[in-house]
Amino acid sequence: MTHHTIGDLSGRVVLVTGAARGLGLNHVRRMSEAGATVVATDLHEAEVAAATVDIANVRAAALDIRDTDAVRSHIEGIVATEGRLDVVVNNAGGAVGYTGGETDPVAIFRAVVELNLVATYGVCLAAAPHLAPGGRLILTSSSTTFRHSFDVPVSYVAAKTGVIGLTRALARDLGERGIAVNAVAPGFTPHDAMRGRVQSERVDAMTEVAVRDQAIKRSGTPDDISSAVLFLAGPGADFITGQVLLVDGGWTFH
Ligand SMILES: NC(=O)c1ccc[n+]([C@@H]2O[C@H](COP(=O)([O-])OP(=O)(O)OC[C@H]3O[C@@H](n4cnc5c(N)ncnc54)[C@H](O)[C@@H]3O)[C@@H](O)[C@H]2O)c1
Repeated sequence: MTHHTIGDLSGRVVLVTGAARGLGLNHVRRMSEAGATVVATDLHEAEVAAATVDIANVRAAALDIRDTDAVRSHIEGIVATEGRLDVVVNNAGGAVGYTGGETDPVAIFRAVVELNLVATYGVCLAAAPHLAPGGRLILTSSSTTFRHSFDVPVSYVAAKTGVIGLTRALARDLGERGIAVNAVAPGFTPHDAMRGRVQSERVDAMTEVAVRDQAIKRSGTPDDISSAVLFLAGPGADFITGQVLLVDGGWTFH
């Protein structure tokens, strides 16, 4: 009987989207430590290159996941250069559209669904035919899809709930080829880049509110989310598919 080493990604080629900061950047670091070759992508190459400069076996590149043609040729390029593609970590996402003076709620809704759901679908669709046997697609939902929370925008909840449907449907369609498709659903997970964007005191206040309602009485960390991603990406998880793994310290039970 063969025993798998959970989290061993040696020889694997991994694409991470939205990798210049926050959870995505942490995923890159942890995947690299696990032995993978990582293609770290974000909107601007300079940013993702600077952020990943001290991480081994990483290639930084620009990739706007909303640009379907760019996504397709980028993935073909990875296979041509690295010889294979094993795992795609669809991390890019968020509640966008509020800072550019956008006030039309439907336009905001469209932008948020476009980024979190439509563009993620585009990446999965482009990657699927190129994935090596035993390949994995990992999507990023959110605990806010499972539990009421006042200050989370409707568009974000709707888009991230769509990600769960997308995960299940892709798992069904790709299972025959041995490809597993799962999502992680982080709870509130503060990180350095968030403190750069949102006032630090506000992040502290949000953390306090989250921790109060969690079963585990500490703040979530990027490593908590990356550990789940690493598990789903690694050997030993190839019989798990169509699942959503909540990583929220028990903020939600379902
Ligand atoms: N941090 C949390 O509390 C939390 C909780 C639940 C879910 N999530 C989800 O986890 C993921 C990462 O969260 P985060 O807090 O690190 O976010 P973040 O906003 O700090 O980082 C997101 C990254 O995605 C990139 N990005 C944005 N649009 C892109 C595009 N069109 N193409 C490529 N890259 C793009 C950004 O440049 C940024 O580097 C997101 O999908 C988010 O919705 C985060």
